[in-house]
Amino acid sequence: MALINENYQKLQAGYLFPEIGRRVEQFISSNPDKKVIKMGIGDVTRPLVPSVINAFHEGVEEMAKSESFRGYGPEQGYSFLREIIAGNDYQNRGIDISADDIFISDGSKCDTGNIQEIFSSDSKIAICDPVYPVYADTTVMSGKTGSCQPNGYYDGIIYMPCTRENGFIPELPEERPDLIFLCYPNNPTGTVATRDELKKWVDYAEKNRCIILYDAAYEAFITEENIPHSIYEIEGAKKLAIEFRSFSKTAGFTGTRCAFAVVPGELTAYDKSGNSVSVKSLWNRRQSTKFNGVSYPVQKAASAVYSEEGKKEVAEVINYYLGNAKIMKESLTASGYEVYGGVNAPYIWVRTKDDMKSWEFFDKLLNEANVVGTPGSGFGPSGEGYFRFSAFAGRQNTVEAMERIKNLR
Ligand code: MLT
Repeated sequence: MALINENYQKLQAGYLFPEIGRRVEQFISSNPDKKVIKMGIGDVTRPLVPSVINAFHEGVEEMAKSESFRGYGPEQGYSFLREIIAGNDYQNRGIDISADDIFISDGSKCDTGNIQEIFSSDSKIAICDPVYPVYADTTVMSGKTGSCQPNGYYDGIIYMPCTRENGFIPELPEERPDLIFLCYPNNPTGTVATRDELKKWVDYAEKNRCIILYDAAYEAFITEENIPHSIYEIEGAKKLAIEFRSFSKTAGFTGTRCAFAVVPGELTAYDKSGNSVSVKSLWNRRQSTKFNGVSYPVQKAASAVYSEEGKKEVAEVINYYLGNAKIMKESLTASGYEVYGGVNAPYIWVRTKDDMKSWEFFDKLLNEANVVGTPGSGFGPSGEGYFRFSAFAGRQNTVEAMERIKNLR
């Protein structure tokens, strides 16, 4: 008899974004004449920039000729891409990360979920609330939790509420975790962590022998000075943090798929006898066994993001989305909403009016304004009464959506 992984049965609803997609599809099929504007999942709408497309084409052409054809690539990623990342994202900013510490993958969603399997299933995980749902769901799937309580919290997870009262910045946990997920710029609230804030976490992790799983997928959207772009800007972080980055939002790769995890050589965890073990060697073993790498043309396309032209083109696209965020922030504020984020992140975090529940606001917006966003409660219990708008729509749609929301009764 084949037994299932019963941890899956502890999961509450379906994964957030497909659930939203299902409701929207249902609405569209019953209302085919309505023009629905989607600002739910953070999916990009601008095409890949010319430098990236040219490199992508070149990569495909190389695959068409026997002299340049490539079969399996290195599971860790091609060294041309790992080196260009290490140089541009780290060494040029004075951070000592080498190409060998970088593992190319097909997405940070996969990396932040998969990373859990190299740690003990007894590990205690700390997550913010609200949070990108992948961290909590994959913690449940991997058997590190009990069941979900009526308040929406899983037994066994250490939750760190992020509310307007604490400026959406979590307190250090009272109970000691083994692994701490942090995401900055934050999805969903759009907040950032200052250097002092990050230092606080690095010091805490050092003192308590924790590992920080640092999701920096939205790093390219930081506009303010002195906000760290990488956790490794904080001294000592290389010994205790894994960083996740992605080309998805930075360079429009949501449909193309390329990301990377940084696992420094000095990062160690422990076996049951207290011996230290290299986390990088475990991740390398995991990836070599279960992953065959990202396709060559895609890695070639990703490397073009770092060319002189590529950097300029990508920056223009990011500014376009940040321009949307500005329009949204101003318009929603003028419409009487309490609005957060949108300055260093492509997400706007809005408090609903009159304490309306998040899903109730979702339905109202969909039915009356034909605009889709993401209910805050889908990111965790402390997201109840909030709503997230993504700034990745086209400009015209952004303006039109804001106009429709302004006219909501
Ligand atoms: C989001 O909307 O939170 C993200 O697009 C989801 C993701 O990156 O997987």
